[in-house]
Amino acid sequence: MSIQAPIFTPELLQYLRNISTPEPPILARIREETAQHRLGKMAIAPEQAALLTWLARAINTQNYLEIGTFTGYSSTAMALTLPENAHLTCCDINVTFTDKARQYWQEAGVAHKIELHLQPALITLDELIAQGKTQYFDLAFIDADKPPTPHYYERCLKLVRSGGIIAIDNLLLGGRIINEPNDNSPISHTILREFNAQLPYDKRITPLTLPLGDGLTLLLKN
Ligand SMILES: C[S@@+](CC[C@H](N)C(=O)[O-])C[C@H]1O[C@@H](n2cnc3c(N)ncnc32)[C@H](O)[C@@H]1O
Repeated sequence: MSIQAPIFTPELLQYLRNISTPEPPILARIREETAQHRLGKMAIAPEQAALLTWLARAINTQNYLEIGTFTGYSSTAMALTLPENAHLTCCDINVTFTDKARQYWQEAGVAHKIELHLQPALITLDELIAQGKTQYFDLAFIDADKPPTPHYYERCLKLVRSGGIIAIDNLLLGGRIINEPNDNSPISHTILREFNAQLPYDKRITPLTLPLGDGLTLLLKN
């Protein structure tokens, strides 16, 4: 039976959260404290973190790559889920945001699993490729500035193993993605429309975009 998904009111969303794995207290605190920040909405939603960590476990993730770490919500969620010998490689350019992330990683007791690269992500990704880390990562999560998304994707395709996953947040641009860009549209609008449009024809991956948060795109590497 195929029925229309219900409208996710705040109450229904809360119900959904109540019947899923509970959000660990440290994550609830990161989310609440980050929400006070002017840019607090940049952190992923709890159900996005729950899905990403669920998938990470399902594919036995040992090496995780994150492009866009902010105050550490998604990376802490991942580090708490992954086994003791797992390794997280995180990329960001902002010292203030990531100082907060470092503080949460310490508090959560997961700092030893995480390596932070503080420079433009494209530089880090090229360095990882130059170090021979192709096919090294099980899961990559792209959640940074939007215009370089196609470049992040091409690098991640090299860095992620076959059978691994590349997840990308916000490819729906708050729903604006279905509108033609106009003179006032940011450059990311055109770039992401072209990027999304080619996904079904890209034989290197199996694409699926879910209506979670602002759209969570999951690309299974063939
Ligand atoms: C949407 S937030 C990431 C949210 C994070 N994944 C979470 O769930 O809390 C985007 C982050 O990307 C970072 N960023 C922006 N441009 C970047 C670049 N060129 N290279 C690396 N990080 C970048 C920003 O500093 C910001 O912390």
